[in-house]
Amino acid sequence: MTQFDTEVAVVTGASSGIGRATAEAFAADGARVVVSDVNAEGGEETVARIEEAGGTAIFVETDVTDDDAVAALVDTAVSEYGRLDFACNNAGIGGPQKPTADLSVDEWHRVVDVNLNGVWRSMRHEIPAMLDVDGGVIVNMASILGKVGFANAAPYVAAKHGVLGLTKTAAIEYAEQGVRVNAVCPGFVDTPLLGEGGLDDPEARQGIESLHPVNRLGDVDEIASAVVWLCSDGASFTTGEALTVDGGYTSR
Ligand code: NAI
Repeated sequence: MTQFDTEVAVVTGASSGIGRATAEAFAADGARVVVSDVNAEGGEETVARIEEAGGTAIFVETDVTDDDAVAALVDTAVSEYGRLDFACNNAGIGGPQKPTADLSVDEWHRVVDVNLNGVWRSMRHEIPAMLDVDGGVIVNMASILGKVGFANAAPYVAAKHGVLGLTKTAAIEYAEQGVRVNAVCPGFVDTPLLGEGGLDDPEARQGIESLHPVNRLGDVDEIASAVVWLCSDGASFTTGEALTVDGGYTSR
């Protein structure tokens, strides 16, 4: 027996990084997993990795900026596996590295549309499906940059702060109906998203590592295990929480 033998989980942005690790962790605990992403090749690879490890998963290509596609994702989870219990709204992009006043309107909107509006679009379809089975758990992937500022990342920081506000509000709205809504706030984690931010350069990487008292980046599995815990019975009294997993970054 594993802890999620009857449960079904959707993970967005699951072709890579934290999302892939989370999909694999749900499957290792027995959940049937709907892997979704804009990147079909990576998504199919995540499914293959889960199946090789003895788990059950399907891939549904989904762009979280497309409301119809997100609706179809949730419909597929329910039609394929009969229910939806858990959702990790994780799809995200880093965005341009520029001071606030140098950003174009399109650059601002793009990051907010994926990182904040994408989470809301996902929730608006996931919540009704969870209410159909008398409850569920949503875990939104925020960031320490949902709690503190960071130079040259205004739309990212603003979107992640917005994710925490959305998380707390939905937690209040749906608590009595059995839907818990939480967020995870990782410190910097070693994924392709960091390369996008210039951390392929060893000096820049050491600079970021040293911001964490543990003096290293996080590992994707250290974030996935927090998501899985928030979905477990052990977290049954936890809702509206922004769980920081950051090697001490925000404790300084
Ligand atoms: P990643 O780049 O490895 O994975 C992000 C995934 O999201 C990719 O597979 C990408 O194809 C997908 N994606 C991008 N736009 C999408 C869209 N419009 N629709 C559907 N999927 C889309 O990055 P990582 O690091 O695993 O990021 C996952 C989440 O964790 C993001 O929300 C990110 O902001 C957050 N995060 C990451 C941290 C880090 O240091 N890597 C720190 C804190 C939070």
